[in-house]
Amino acid sequence: MEVFTRIADVRRALGSSRREGRSIGFVPTMGYLHAGHEALVQAARAECDTVVVSIFVNPLQFAPGEDFESYPRDSERDREILTRAGADILFMPSVADIYPRPLLTEVSLPELSRTLEGRTRPTHFQGVATVVLKLLHIVWPDRAYFGQKDGQQVAVVRRLCDDLDLPLDLRVVPTVRESDGLALSSRNVYLSPAERRAAPTLYAALLQGRSAALEGRRGADVAAEIEAAIAREPLIRLDYAAVVDPETMQPKDALQGRVMLAVAARLGRTRLIDNIVLEL
Ligand code: PAJ
Repeated sequence: MEVFTRIADVRRALGSSRREGRSIGFVPTMGYLHAGHEALVQAARAECDTVVVSIFVNPLQFAPGEDFESYPRDSERDREILTRAGADILFMPSVADIYPRPLLTEVSLPELSRTLEGRTRPTHFQGVATVVLKLLHIVWPDRAYFGQKDGQQVAVVRRLCDDLDLPLDLRVVPTVRESDGLALSSRNVYLSPAERRAAPTLYAALLQGRSAALEGRRGADVAAEIEAAIAREPLIRLDYAAVVDPETMQPKDALQGRVMLAVAARLGRTRLIDNIVLEL
């Protein structure tokens, strides 16, 4: 695996790959890789000739007081995981490489960024959209891979690519979970043992919501069902339980077609999110 830190260097390497007619698959990450990230790399490996992974903890998507400084980092381990997973190129730029000067350009999708995560993290998706667009312009992939785990991020990136006619296929990979249902996340390392034992309640509550939705209940009812299931676990403080359209992120009450059930909650100092998408 080749490792690049400079934009010009990774562009040069990918330029020659492209000229040879090799398709490029891209997996953007913030590192501290786990089996969820690996699933994205495997999906790219299966479909593309050249697999590029980026590791960049993007300051723009963290608000003051969030965990940008303490976000877990282990680039040695990440390199081993990516070598084993068969990635061809690792791009690890510095903050100064990506943001060499104050940005005068805004990339934002306010309609998709105000609900759910946007309520507590109002600047988060502007930061995500900005860095994803920059990374896509640097790598210029044929396919880019994102996890369903971050369902609102998928909606934002999909709409960004559609609105700006980016010539790539967006691939969405199902959420990888621990055997007890907890969605893998780099932030799970923050959980105390007791919080870790309580955490699978989030997925269990989503499954309860799914049963209610399959019984034909309305969106508001399904959300209340999820909320009640989470309220039974004293270590979890629910932030939201929502039933939304997976493209618009707007609440859905008459449940038909694609429906996303989403939760966010705090366990001690850790904030976790999870979701499932149903086809009704
Ligand atoms: P990060 O949290 O590192 O996640 C990188 C990618 O891995 C995202 O597409 C995310 O949805 C996916 N992922 C995380 N956990 C997963 C799981 N359990 N199963 C499947 N996929 C999972 O998301 C980001 O970084 C950043 O916002 C980024 C897109 C890199 C922009 O900075």
